[in-house]
Amino acid sequence: MIDQLEAIHQDALNTIADAADDAALESFRIRFLGKKGTLTQAAAGMRDVSKEDKPKVGQKLNEVRQALTSMVEDRAAELIAAKDAAAAKDTDVTLPGRRPQPAALHPLTQMMDRGIKALRQMGFALASGPEVETEFHCFDALNTPEDHPARNEKDTFYFNDGHLLRTHTSSVQVRTMETQAPPIRVIAPGSAYRRDEIDATHLSVFTQMEGLYVAEDVNLGDLKGTLERLFQAIFGPKTPVRFRPHFFPFTEPSFEIDIQLQPKGQAPRWIEIAGCGMVDPNVFAQICESRGDDLYDPDKVTGFAFGLGLERLAMIMWGIPDIRWLIENDQRFLHQFV
Ligand code: DAH
Repeated sequence: MIDQLEAIHQDALNTIADAADDAALESFRIRFLGKKGTLTQAAAGMRDVSKEDKPKVGQKLNEVRQALTSMVEDRAAELIAAKDAAAAKDTDVTLPGRRPQPAALHPLTQMMDRGIKALRQMGFALASGPEVETEFHCFDALNTPEDHPARNEKDTFYFNDGHLLRTHTSSVQVRTMETQAPPIRVIAPGSAYRRDEIDATHLSVFTQMEGLYVAEDVNLGDLKGTLERLFQAIFGPKTPVRFRPHFFPFTEPSFEIDIQLQPKGQAPRWIEIAGCGMVDPNVFAQICESRGDDLYDPDKVTGFAFGLGLERLAMIMWGIPDIRWLIENDQRFLHQFV
């Protein structure tokens, strides 16, 4: 029986190298050490070994079993090492590592967050409205007559059923007043759509932030104070802010707001950044009609409104020369805002 065990050992030594992969190694193990494997079968012969020979044969059996077991283990380790080596074959360990790239908010989102933060501190709550709007909410209720250029087919995306893509977030003013009683103080950031040729300063989809404050005694001083504070929170506490008379259908009087910036090494210049004004009484009258009550009676309430383009603010803030960079998702650009 000793001879038989040695023959099995030898056989295993001769064939282990043929186990070239995991599957082959497993068949090798089953062939020798499995339940019906040659070594297991040989072990069954122990019964017939004489008492005096038993210790010697038993020891041999253990030796061979041990040898075969380690053979399988060693071979398995070799196969893993070979696999690792193959995987690493094309790796150049002298190349610099890849740095983890920290994520950051998009500059437009950062700008929106700044505006929202400053206005929330002054008591404004977020409001929203649909991007697919009615002509009423986008224009009529905002005192914008049928023949106003903004309503032109060339400027606005109309659907066949008379709906349109809102050309400004001012429609949220109307939606808010229709559903909430005064006093209200809301801001509505969101997308607006225009049929503009896309170029360095125009996109057909862009982002605005609308503001509306209606209560009993809101005056022009409130408007100025609020907006000065907003733009100084965004651009720095000493930034000069000025209000220039302008015209918007839904406010009277209306203003454009400029801030003065001094780019490094250049003379200071005024840059237009927003529109605003005192809510036109016609707008309140329209709201009363639409609500069927007099909570927004123009003789009782006053208010101010403003609207600004967030892309434009971001471009001014960070000196971005082309608005399209904000939508191209080019990592080389976006990484500068981390
Ligand atoms: N809706 C105007 C625009 O898109 C911006 C604006 C101007 C909004 C004056 C206002 C406002 O609320 O009072 O150009």
